Amino acid sequence: MTTVSAMHPSPAPAARLTRNQTAARAAYVLAGNDRGRLTVAAPQLYPHMWSWDAAFIAIGLARVSTGRALTELETLLAAQWRTGMVPHIVFTEGDATYEPGPQRWACRETCPDAPDGPATSGLIQPPVHGVAVRRILDAARTASTAERREAVQRIRALWPALLAWHRYLATRRDPDGRGILTIYHGWESGLDNSPRWDAPYAAVVPAPEFVPFRRADLHALGALGGAAAQRPSDADYAKYQWLVEELRRAGYDDERARRTLSFRMGDVLTSALFVAANEELATVADELDLPGVDELIGYADRFRRGVLQTADERGFAADIDLRTGAVVRTETVAGFAPLLSGGLDPARRRALVATLTSADWCGHPGFAHALPPSTSPNSAAFDPVRYWRGPQWPPVTWLMVWGLERSGEQETAHALREAALDQLADGLFAEYYHPFTGEPLGARPQSWTAAVALDLLAA
Ligand code: SER
Repeated sequence: MTTVSAMHPSPAPAARLTRNQTAARAAYVLAGNDRGRLTVAAPQLYPHMWSWDAAFIAIGLARVSTGRALTELETLLAAQWRTGMVPHIVFTEGDATYEPGPQRWACRETCPDAPDGPATSGLIQPPVHGVAVRRILDAARTASTAERREAVQRIRALWPALLAWHRYLATRRDPDGRGILTIYHGWESGLDNSPRWDAPYAAVVPAPEFVPFRRADLHALGALGGAAAQRPSDADYAKYQWLVEELRRAGYDDERARRTLSFRMGDVLTSALFVAANEELATVADELDLPGVDELIGYADRFRRGVLQTADERGFAADIDLRTGAVVRTETVAGFAPLLSGGLDPARRRALVATLTSADWCGHPGFAHALPPSTSPNSAAFDPVRYWRGPQWPPVTWLMVWGLERSGEQETAHALREAALDQLADGLFAEYYHPFTGEPLGARPQSWTAAVALDLLAA
C-alpha cells in the first residue's frame, strides 16, 4: 500500500534557525511587509490588509511595539462600515492585481453604509480583534509608563468602534439570538475551501450568463510552483465569485442578504472566537473602566451556549446550514471550537483534547510536526496540500495553544507550542504547511505566520 508520506517525498531539509534567529527573522518579515499604517498580509498573493490577519499581526507586533500594533487595529477600524461591520479586506492604493478588487465589490457605489475612506470588501472575517486588544494591553504592562499610558489612551479611543463591531455581529449576524454567527460566504469563515462548506456550496450555482473572472491568485503564486494544487479549485472559485455578485445585488444589506443569498451558514468556529473576543474585551472594559462590560459578557454567554449546543459526545462541534436547518458535521479543525469558547464539562473537555492529540489529528504517526491539520488526515475530504483541506496553519495552531492554555490544558498547550516552534524554525513563514513532509505551502512570507511565531517565541 502506498502511504501518503511516500506519495509526497520530503524536500531537502532547509537550514533550521535557532529561536533567536527565528524571532529576528519574523520581526524582519513584518517590517518588510509594513506599508506604514498597515501590514500587507503577503506581498504577492494578498497585497492588502485582511481583517483577521490584521488581528494576528497586531498580536505579533505587540511583542515589538504596542504603538505599532495599535496602528494596525486603528487602520482596520478606520474602514469600519456605518453598521459597525469591519470589512474583511481594506484595499491599499498601490496594488491593483488582487481579484476581486474594489471595482468588483463596488461597495461605495452599492451601499450607503460603506465607509467614505479606503475601498473595502463587503464581507467579514472572524472577530479576533478583541483578543489582540487584550494582548496589546498586557504587553503594555511590561513596557515603559509612557508607552502604557499611550496604549490605554488609544484603546479608549478605539472602544466605540470595537463595541459597534461586536454589536453588529450580535444583532445583524444573529438576528434570532441562537448564539451562532451567520456567514454569507466561505471567505467570511477565513477557512475558504474547508470541507465544512462542501455540502452548502452545492446549492451555490452561478447564473448561466455569469462569466468567472481571471484568477489572480494562481498567477501571484506562480513563481513558487504548485499553485493550482495548493489553492481552491476553479469550480470553487466560480462559486466564490458568484456569491460576491449575489451579495452585491443584495446591496450588502443584511436583511436582503438573509432572504436572497444561496449560502447562509451558522459558523461554529467564528462563533467560538466571538465568545473569546467578548470575554477578552470585557476584561479590558473592566480594567479601564470602559462601558459595555455586561453587554460583552452577555454576548459571550449567548454564543457559548450556541457553540456547545452543536457539540457531540466527544465535545466536537458542528456548523449549521441556516437555509435548511441541517447540522453539518465534518472532520475539520472547526470541531475544536469548544476549546476556544470554553464551557465544556471536564469529561467532555478531556475527550476533546484526547481527540485533538489522537492519530486522527495532531498525533498522526506520519506527521512531520504534531500539530492540528485543517482537516483530519483520516477524513475522505483530506488533501495535504490544498489550502484549508488538510495543511497545518500556524495561526490555527496559535489559537489552539491559546485556547488550551485558557482551558487549563497546559501540558497539551506546551506540546503544541514546541511543535509549532519546530515547524517555524525553517524561517520561511509560509502561509500553511504540508502535514506529512513539513513542506512550506501557499504564500511566503505570510505576515500572520511571522506574527504568531513572534508571540509563541516570546511567551
Ligand atoms: N482568502 C481569500 C483569498 O484567497 C480572501 O479572503 O483571496
